[in-house]
Amino acid sequence: MSHIHIDVENVSFGYEKGKEILREISLHASETDSIGIIGANGVGKSTFLKMLVGLNLDFTGSIRIEEIPVEKRTLAQIRSKIGYVFQDSDSQLFMNTAYEDIAFAPRNYGLPEAEVERRVEQALAMTGIGHLREKQIYKMSGGEKKLVSIATILSMTPDIILMDEPSIALDPRNRRNLIRILNSFAHLKIIASHDLDLVLDTCERTVLMSDGRIVKDGRTEEILTDQRLLEEHGLELPLRLQKSYGKNSAHPGGKN
Ligand SMILES: Nc1ncnc2c1ncn2[C@@H]1O[C@H](COP(=O)(O)OP(=O)(O)OP(=O)(O)O)[C@@H](O)[C@H]1O
Ligand SMILES: [Mg+2]
Repeated sequence: MSHIHIDVENVSFGYEKGKEILREISLHASETDSIGIIGANGVGKSTFLKMLVGLNLDFTGSIRIEEIPVEKRTLAQIRSKIGYVFQDSDSQLFMNTAYEDIAFAPRNYGLPEAEVERRVEQALAMTGIGHLREKQIYKMSGGEKKLVSIATILSMTPDIILMDEPSIALDPRNRRNLIRILNSFAHLKIIASHDLDLVLDTCERTVLMSDGRIVKDGRTEEILTDQRLLEEHGLELPLRLQKSYGKNSAHPGGKN
């Protein structure tokens, strides 16, 4: 039996006293799950993902990753299992060059330098950014930083992938490659995104959040085709399912 799973039980959280941002969230995710987290701006998607990697520890309820409770003393253990891509790449990248950032996690695990190099090269090849190897992070475009951020988690060969708005700033070709990477990842992945076409292409299950709560958790093809439900919670159908798609949309969605 697999141990790769996440159990969230009745979790509530607020950044400030008396102002709850997440309310009574429960979610159980198993090894084979691919989950899209969707919801309007400010409903708490990023806050929720951050909680899973222990960035917001002051919550009530319980979160367990592969049976390990998320708390201060387990953070190193939790983070060695989860590859987490921040919504904001500047929060993710802290070394000087792409190579150093992508090498950071494998080096931190004490892997031999030859293995570190192999993993970095593999992550650079998967994300198609070999040419950015030695480029300084502060000189990169938004999309370049996003690709490096994705590469930093691939080099750590995580058990679980969490990505927050991974397709933001990516051009159509890089976005398509991201979809390929996500679909080739065999374990549990959770992706928060406004790119509902990407969710449609990569996630079998979708969790709809509204005002800090999970209002629907089910099959992606049911939730993302339910126009009324989506509109009730401030969203719209994925672009490729909209009747006007193709007439006046320049979005890179569509068939992949
Ligand atoms: N560090 C913080 N301190 C105080 N409030 C915060 C902080 N981070 C986020 N919030 C608030 O928590 C709420 C949820 O924010 P969050 O970033 O989780 O939303 P989101 O669903 O990811 O939105 P988006 O679609 O815009 O990325 C927002 O009202 C936001 O203002
Ligand atoms: Mg967010």
